[in-house]
Amino acid sequence: MTGEMTPRQRWLAEGRADVPAAAVEAGLWEEIAAEAERCEKVAVVRHNRRPGLLVMRDGSITSPQRCRVHPGGQALNALARHKALADIAAGATGAMRMTPIRYGYKFYAPGDFMHVHRDDGKCDITFSCGLTPDLGPMRWLPRMRHLPTADVAAQLDGAPYPDGGEDFPILARRLSGFDGRRIPHWRTPLDNPSGEVLITICFSDLSVKP
Ligand SMILES: [Fe+2]
Repeated sequence: MTGEMTPRQRWLAEGRADVPAAAVEAGLWEEIAAEAERCEKVAVVRHNRRPGLLVMRDGSITSPQRCRVHPGGQALNALARHKALADIAAGATGAMRMTPIRYGYKFYAPGDFMHVHRDDGKCDITFSCGLTPDLGPMRWLPRMRHLPTADVAAQLDGAPYPDGGEDFPILARRLSGFDGRRIPHWRTPLDNPSGEVLITICFSDLSVKP
């Protein structure tokens, strides 16, 4: 039945949004791959060591993670500002207009990890994809999408990689959108010896609501 849903229905039902492969031209992916290689040399370590799940006022949940990050350059900026992406973000979430507010490259070395968390409260939709092939899936708990953050934290009870999660495939050079500020998600420690490179792009509805 999934194939018959509109993007908006899919978002409401499943908290995800597909970006068609043809939405982003191949040439831009080539530029991004080259840019990521340059950025990796100067990426900085992000290592949040504070144990446990920290409930934030904006509804997000912060938890330990380790990887290296870089905000990207012209190529990633062009992807974040791609009209097709903004249109998909708006179509899925029902917002009039979506603005990319945060994006970057993430470099995972063997052993790097991301404990279960909820994204920043301003992220109305989070897109992710890989730049390396055969990425391990992200895991998520869509059934917790509509629970208050305090309830999510209480139910997870500090577990960094909760039981009962489902796979969310991360595709190479093809973005997938998800409701990252509501649906708890995580990545278990990477065991791929060659490492992984990912992109994340968060969009926000910045329009003023009465
Ligand atoms: Fe996230």
